[in-house]
Amino acid sequence: MATVTRAHPNIALIKYWGKAAGEGNVPATPSLSITLDALTTTTEVSDADTDIFELDGRPVADTKVTECLANLRRRFPVPPLHIRSHNNFPTAAGLASSASGFAALVTAIDAHCDLGMTAQARSDYARQASGSAARSIFGGFVALRGPNWHGEMLAAPADWPLKVVIAIAAAEAKAVSSSEGMKRSAATSPYYPSWVTSTAQDFDVAVTLVANRDFTGLAELAEFSCLKMHGLMLSSRPGLIYWNPTTLACMHRIRELRDSGLPVFFTMDAGPQVKAVCLPKAAPEVAAALADVGGVHEVLVSGLGDGAAPKTKADTKAATQAVNKAAGKSQ
Ligand code: DP6
Repeated sequence: MATVTRAHPNIALIKYWGKAAGEGNVPATPSLSITLDALTTTTEVSDADTDIFELDGRPVADTKVTECLANLRRRFPVPPLHIRSHNNFPTAAGLASSASGFAALVTAIDAHCDLGMTAQARSDYARQASGSAARSIFGGFVALRGPNWHGEMLAAPADWPLKVVIAIAAAEAKAVSSSEGMKRSAATSPYYPSWVTSTAQDFDVAVTLVANRDFTGLAELAEFSCLKMHGLMLSSRPGLIYWNPTTLACMHRIRELRDSGLPVFFTMDAGPQVKAVCLPKAAPEVAAALADVGGVHEVLVSGLGDGAAPKTKADTKAATQAVNKAAGKSQ
């Protein structure tokens, strides 16, 4: 019997970039994100003779997956597993595939092996694999903060149903992984200490802005956090440049739209893709404007999504078909 789960990526409005010293992949700063419903990782887990991990139909040797399994096995009886994961979006191009990937994986193993984990425990294990994955266990607006460093839902998707227009500015994988980039920034950027101190302050303000549904305030603060993180990346040695000219053109277009009265702001992670966060009424105009920017490959419109969850029986069949299709297998 296979168990199928799905999880969505999230994008941070207050960014995580840098780790605390010691074990457990603990972030150096709190972060706050929104979970997206249009992008999905579907993961199917079944018993096997030996561990096999397939991503989008191809067997992959992924150290982080191996470590995640080893970590779970230190505490729980997890047998050898055949894991098949499928993303309906470009992997490793700055659309947070590791966030949804590990959230789906831990949730699938918990359900398949009947481990009885709480959402907080799943978030804790997901974080140890990839910091941002802790947040994809939950839906809507999610905080990741100490002292426990598991995700926590601040507001459900329906509480403040923002839209996110994603402009795909490049489809290829990024040059430097987030984990590597963070190490470099912490070791070399002269701005790193003030990034850590000021992000904790930004986070506290952002929690209040979300509680008050203050879009204007959140727009200003989220762009500040994003640009500050990219400033930190640029000030690392050698500098980390995740944008391309299309990214920059989209940022300018979004600022123009906001200046003309549309409720929209941008954010980018460790990749060139631009996410324009907006109030629902602005989404069609924002999507049309970004589709018109030269170099944009594709525009996706997403709402806010739920946290990682096992599939119900009704949609398990469709999900298995999607995984099989990715693997090139007939039903
Ligand atoms: C720029 O969660 O991918 O997206 O913990 O090393 O796996 P690791 O890093 P990861 O970093 C995410 C960085 C970011 C900002 C964010 O999501 O907060």
